[in-house]
Amino acid sequence: MDDKLARWGRLKEICQGCGACQLAERRTNVVFGEGVLDAAVMFVGEGPGEQEDLQGRPFVGPAGKLLDRMLASIGLSREENAIICNIVKCRPPGNRAPSPEEGEQCLPFLRAQVDIVRPKIIVCLGATAVRHIISADARITKVRGQWLERKNFWLIATYHPAALLRDPSRKAEAWADMKAVRDKLAELTGMS
Ligand code: URA
Repeated sequence: MDDKLARWGRLKEICQGCGACQLAERRTNVVFGEGVLDAAVMFVGEGPGEQEDLQGRPFVGPAGKLLDRMLASIGLSREENAIICNIVKCRPPGNRAPSPEEGEQCLPFLRAQVDIVRPKIIVCLGATAVRHIISADARITKVRGQWLERKNFWLIATYHPAALLRDPSRKAEAWADMKAVRDKLAELTGMS
């Protein structure tokens, strides 16, 4: 764990000095990620919004409050047993989606985060995470709720909490996806 902490800290420092793409120019803070380094499940969003940029923490605005409730519904929290990251670590201006190039530039940081945490499950939150983690032509509406086995972890996608705030009719599907995460976690770790 000490080793993980040290590696996480070093990576965070490098990320905080990153100027690889134009998103760096307008950020207030790098939003590196937050949670437990031994977590069995990692949630990956799109990128920081206004509140996240100001506070330097992921998912602290309205979508974050919903994400925290989604996690709590299956016994997870960023304080105890989950970790939350994003595809890009700097806020895209006006909350636009990051461009494919910005996502690609930033992806080595996420890969290194996965390498440190070694989660058993990665949950893609929304279309941007799906495109960068599952495949460039995958669509959230098609792939959500389906397990994909990768070499070192299981992957699943669900709707981004901001999309659920815009369209609450999708909440039933998102709830089914969260239950699938809970069941897989129980199967893999005995956690219930
Ligand atoms: N939306 C995201 O995708 N990530 C955040 O950190 C906040 C909102």
